[in-house]
Amino acid sequence: MTALTLETDVLQNFIDGKWVDVENTTAVTNPANGERIVQVPLSNRYHVEEAVKAAKKAQKNWALVPAPQRAEVLYRVGMIMKDKKERLSRLLTMENGKVLEEARGEVQEGIDMAFYMAGEGRRLFGQTTPAELKDKFAMSQRCPVGVVGIITPWNFPIAIATWKSFPAIVAGNAVIWKPATETPIMAYELAKIFEEAGLPNGVINVVFGKGSEVGDSMVQNEDIRVISFTGSNDTGRNIASDCGKQLKKVSLEMGGKNAVIVMDDADLDLAVEGILWSAFGTSGQRCTACSRVIVHHKVKKILEERLLAAMDHLTIGNGLEEGIKVGPIINEAGLNKIKKYIEVGKQEGATLLAGGSEWESNNQGYYFTPTLFTDAKPDMRIAQEEIFGPVVSLIEVSSFEEAIEVNNQVTYGLSSSIFTRDINRVFKAQRDLDTGIVYVNAGTTGAEIHLPFGGTKGTGNGHRDSGVQALDVFTEWKAIYVDYSGKLQRAQIDTEE
Ligand code: UN1
Repeated sequence: MTALTLETDVLQNFIDGKWVDVENTTAVTNPANGERIVQVPLSNRYHVEEAVKAAKKAQKNWALVPAPQRAEVLYRVGMIMKDKKERLSRLLTMENGKVLEEARGEVQEGIDMAFYMAGEGRRLFGQTTPAELKDKFAMSQRCPVGVVGIITPWNFPIAIATWKSFPAIVAGNAVIWKPATETPIMAYELAKIFEEAGLPNGVINVVFGKGSEVGDSMVQNEDIRVISFTGSNDTGRNIASDCGKQLKKVSLEMGGKNAVIVMDDADLDLAVEGILWSAFGTSGQRCTACSRVIVHHKVKKILEERLLAAMDHLTIGNGLEEGIKVGPIINEAGLNKIKKYIEVGKQEGATLLAGGSEWESNNQGYYFTPTLFTDAKPDMRIAQEEIFGPVVSLIEVSSFEEAIEVNNQVTYGLSSSIFTRDINRVFKAQRDLDTGIVYVNAGTTGAEIHLPFGGTKGTGNGHRDSGVQALDVFTEWKAIYVDYSGKLQRAQIDTEE
């Protein structure tokens, strides 16, 4: 493999179409080996204000560009991403750690989103509807909100950025984007792609830095009218309450405690594959990762055996190397959190069947062995709280009804899955599982970009990323009435002749 080079050793903010130096920076390291990759800016309130000024100015003109022309830029973005797919994927693995095959999948998710949202440039459908009065016309139309703020996480640094920025841009908004400081290279690369694709200056502005400084400044800035955030539950709740005070629209996606249900009639080999992929892919660092397996008692023993046998083949290591299935954990804090939950699980009385310890690499990388607990109880902390690592807990149940109940007994509601061959159970499950995403005979991950992504209960606040629903976050509805009767007609009053 040829070595990947960034054009710079110190990243800059991208404001008003210009690359701007920031005095304070911090090192970004490769989680697979601890090597420094690049310096990322630690911006402050002033940088956010500069970005907002530029965005306000740019947005006025951008909103007047016909949407199909705005979409042309996204088509070009998609084409450039396609050309650069391999480079982007390798850089993604380098900064985030996920194995190369998954990195390619994530970049593809961004490409898909570019073409899908470009298509919206010729739709952005509103409605026409009959008016209640004669010679009167009524319609509703989507309008841009203005300047919007997006705050994106490190676990899907390019896909989630596209879920949020592409709908915002095609709808005629200007964007202030704070990427996670752990994974700024995807933001740098995407900003360069926007530049190359000819997006007018100021329509997207990237401000690198910490949530406590940059994120908070965005939330407090009165000219930013929407905040779309993906990240932790605590931060999301704080953002929502701050936005609430300002009547600022806020869209939150904050994780899950997703379960795979395995019924006694399931195709067990398929269930094992689905569990492995969704529990240990991305080292379990997905909002949609499977971290509970709810298993019918008749097949519990055999499922345990088959899972253990299959887990033996999960090779751990640097995701850029051939054949590696499980990459590193993002950083030391992530690793410590996982270790803490292993102790919690043991103390709570769950049985550790496999893993449970750090994987010792011969460098400064952060690795954790895929871990399987069994005999977990639904109310244990390891079965309730998001661990964000390669840790899965088996919970035994004795009926379909109990499986559904246990699935729904968590504060989160992102994704769930059931393995069964019984069509009646399939339809009951898709009705009764109270998550925003439900899979049948597949694991809990793998959402496609043209469907709504998000969840119920503690996962979010009723909004959705991706899909046509993403447009609802970044648009206001305007109702328009045109009276062509030439006289005063009063709604609700002059309706009877
Ligand atoms: C996330 O974990 O925040 O469905 C996003 C999936 C991916 C996206 C995950 N397409 O697992």
